Amino acid sequence: MVLLSPLLLCSTLLSTAAFASSKCKSTPNDLTWPSNEEWKSLNQSIRGALIKTAPAPSSCYEGNPFNSSTNCFDATKYWTYAAYHSAWPESVDYSIFTNNSCLPRGADGYTKGRGCSIGALPQYIVNATNEQQIATALRWATERNIRVVVKGTGHDLSGRSTGAYSLSIWTHNFKHIEHQPEWPLPDGSGTADVVICGSGHTWGTVYNAVHAMNRSVVGGEDATVGLGGLIQNGGHGLLSSHYGLASDQVYQVTFITADGRRLVANNKQNADIFWAVRGAGGGQFGVVTEFILKTHPVPKNLITGGFSFYQVSASKAGNISWAALAEVASSIPDIMDNGLTGTVIAMTGSSAMALTGLNHTSPGVVASVSLVGFNMTTEAMDRTVQNMTFRFANGSSANMLKVVYQSSEAYSYWAYTKPDFLSSTSCGSSSLMSSRLLGRHELSDIPMADLTTYLQQASVSQSATGSMLLFGLQGGPGPASTPEDMRGSVLPAWRSAYVHAMSYGASLNATADPSDALASGAHWYEANLEPVWRNWAPRTGSYMNEGNAFSSTWKQDFYGENYNRLLKLKRAYDPSGSFFVWSGVGSDMWEYDLHSGLLCRID
Ligand SMILES: Cc1cc2nc3c(=O)[nH]c(=O)nc-3n(C[C@H](O)[C@H](O)[C@H](O)COP(=O)(O)OP(=O)(O)OC[C@H]3O[C@@H](n4cnc5c(N)ncnc54)[C@H](O)[C@@H]3O)c2cc1C
Ligand SMILES: *[C@@H]1O[C@H](CO)[C@@H](O)[C@H](O)[C@H]1NC(C)=O
Ligand SMILES: *[C@@H]1O[C@H](CO)[C@@H](O)[C@H](O)[C@H]1NC(C)=O
Ligand SMILES: *[C@@H]1O[C@H](CO)[C@@H](O)[C@H](O)[C@H]1NC(C)=O
Ligand SMILES: *[C@@H]1O[C@H](CO)[C@@H](O)[C@H](O)[C@H]1NC(C)=O
Ligand SMILES: *[C@@H]1O[C@H](CO)[C@@H](O)[C@H](O)[C@H]1NC(C)=O
Ligand SMILES: *[C@@H]1O[C@H](CO)[C@@H](O)[C@H](O)[C@H]1NC(C)=O
Ligand SMILES: *[C@@H]1O[C@H](CO)[C@@H](O)[C@H](O)[C@H]1NC(C)=O
Ligand SMILES: *[C@@H]1O[C@H](CO)[C@@H](O)[C@H](O)[C@H]1NC(C)=O
Ligand SMILES: *[C@@H]1O[C@H](CO)[C@@H](O)[C@H](O)[C@H]1NC(C)=O
Ligand SMILES: *[C@@H]1O[C@H](CO)[C@@H](O)[C@H](O)[C@H]1NC(C)=O
Ligand SMILES: *[C@@H]1O[C@H](CO)[C@@H](O)[C@H](O)[C@H]1NC(C)=O
Repeated sequence: MVLLSPLLLCSTLLSTAAFASSKCKSTPNDLTWPSNEEWKSLNQSIRGALIKTAPAPSSCYEGNPFNSSTNCFDATKYWTYAAYHSAWPESVDYSIFTNNSCLPRGADGYTKGRGCSIGALPQYIVNATNEQQIATALRWATERNIRVVVKGTGHDLSGRSTGAYSLSIWTHNFKHIEHQPEWPLPDGSGTADVVICGSGHTWGTVYNAVHAMNRSVVGGEDATVGLGGLIQNGGHGLLSSHYGLASDQVYQVTFITADGRRLVANNKQNADIFWAVRGAGGGQFGVVTEFILKTHPVPKNLITGGFSFYQVSASKAGNISWAALAEVASSIPDIMDNGLTGTVIAMTGSSAMALTGLNHTSPGVVASVSLVGFNMTTEAMDRTVQNMTFRFANGSSANMLKVVYQSSEAYSYWAYTKPDFLSSTSCGSSSLMSSRLLGRHELSDIPMADLTTYLQQASVSQSATGSMLLFGLQGGPGPASTPEDMRGSVLPAWRSAYVHAMSYGASLNATADPSDALASGAHWYEANLEPVWRNWAPRTGSYMNEGNAFSSTWKQDFYGENYNRLLKLKRAYDPSGSFFVWSGVGSDMWEYDLHSGLLCRID
């Protein structure tokens, strides 16, 4: 934060605005902020696509102060639905990042009497339908020192698709999609089967389209998640352990720079920005309007299987369940090398009763292992499950554990992955989490006692109801075998990672001042969880889309050895800092204060 000394404030009253504009991004309180006439002329130059922000729940407030066009009933009913937020130009899933400025009654974070204001929502939004509008608006905002944010769906878990006093570029309507089975590769080396997609698609709309093409693509597991943020920051899903991350599938992007240039970027031209937007780039360098993505054959089938376990006797204080979890964790690299993917959920305390179905807590940890395989048989899945559980359920302690087997089932790929846009209903006030990538070294090659201790330490929680540790089996052979020229700037640790581990220990006070709530959550992680990851996995890092944007080691965590090269590109493509996101490249030269809304340079 820029602290203006009282002396400076008094003695330079007139030049405060000029001072602010040189240090801080412009705000409506500054003399430099464009007049209504100027906004009107921007609107004309982009064919009327400019929207003045009207928070959807404005209709829940006396007199509908922003004249929202939706009714309060819908805003209230659908507030937890991801699909609802993506349909509105300004709305985002996690309202803490908007400073909880305009919420329907009863929503997480709602405080009676706070009223409805723009808060940290953008001031204006470009409802873009063509690249020219984006280019014009970006150049216009950059020339006027106005902060720019980019919103696809608004699902970002670190609030990177909203920002106070900003102009938002909404890519929602970039929805063209086309199959080209023999697209000529830019380097002339042959052709590839690709799908050409507008960046406003969600994975659900892409999956529907590629299903009709009898192909598959690597994307996220939730239908409502968008291409823009998921691909540009890495992206994992059901197929990532086979074919690599979503950012490993990109042959070309179309990109609009902060000064309004349109670039076609691939391995042959504009290769530097092409590299940057493949893994480390969401909302930081410019706006991607189109992705050209590799497609794959549809898997012949999809087999599910798994098991869960809990400790039935309190003897040994739950250590038997922790040891069992360690056995599961250590077997993950092998089963992934054998073609499996899936999730492991480990919970403690009363929250774990959801996994056991019991109405009392179990000692230690309760775990549920859900596996997915492709092109295989249910018998092969059963053998893997037996083998995994034999590692901990075969000895003298076995009778202290209850293992519940899930019967293996075969699905068609489509039956299992058919998009459901209304299933994602977890939106709320906040989403702070911490995560770490774990490789064979961290999972299989350390002493079992150490692994057990790390698992216990990573399951810390601020809440009395217990903790949740989630292992996504999303790295493995796919990212490891991705050819060099398909690897962008994604954190190199992904190449040796098997597991993306997420832990959700902090409990944020939903009704506190958002800036304070985030700061105290960040402080809790820094004191309790980040040190565990750093100790367990000092050389890996974290997945930027599902990580702790407030970690003190974010440069190393999210970018690793790529950071300096990315910083050069940030300076080249966005020299005046139109784009800012928390823990973005070069973001340490800025301070974004959610309380004042000011975004100021601190170097
Ligand atoms: C319900 C849910 C399920 C999830 N499941 C998965 C999963 O299976 N796999 C996974 O990897 N992640 C998953 N995530 C995390 C997800 O990758 C991030 O939330 C990601 O930010 C979503 O991208 P988006 O474009 O939908 O969101 P947005 O909030 O719209 O954008 C996210 C970031 O990307 C930027 N951005 C978006 N579009 C563009 C563009 N065209 N040009 C430039 N910048 C752009 C934004 O500025 C912002 O910084 C999930 C998240 C949620 C909420
Ligand atoms: C932009 O122009 C369109 C069409 O004239 C209009 O509907 C819209 O309200 C204008 N936007 C703003 C912010 O004035
Ligand atoms: C509010 O929006 C409606 C259309 O949704 C429009 O007819 C009306 O003029 C607007 N009122 C104000 C005060 O802007
Ligand atoms: C954010 O909310 C707090 C109240 O919690 C308020 O004091 C502050 O002015 C708000 N800031 C912005 C930018 O809306
Ligand atoms: C955005 O633009 C499209 C195309 O012009 C239009 O159909 C849609 O209604 C607009 N959305 C909003 C929220 O203005
Ligand atoms: C779909 O593609 C596969 C090859 O990937 C092919 O074997 C199959 O016949 C195709 N199905 C249809 C309906 O075209
Ligand atoms: C499934 O098998 C086909 C060949 O029959 C192969 O091309 C494809 O990569 C396999 N898919 C997965 C996810 O293993
Ligand atoms: C359980 O494990 C912890 C270390 O992780 C150890 O200190 C404790 O003594 C063990 N308890 C029993 C009953 O074995
Ligand atoms: C829950 O516990 C109570 C006793 O505390 C018991 O009566 C009841 O049957 C239990 N319910 C289930 C589903 O186990
Ligand atoms: C069973 O596990 C052992 C190691 O624990 C491994 O060597 C073997 O390949 C596994 N077999 C199957 C069918 O997974
Ligand atoms: C249980 O399985 C593990 C791993 O396969 C093995 O090392 C151990 O000897 C087995 N114990 C018993 C009692 O069979
Ligand atoms: C949450 O913050 C509110 C507002 O500052 C405060 O009144 C309340 O006591 C806090 N709750 C907790 C559990 O700290």
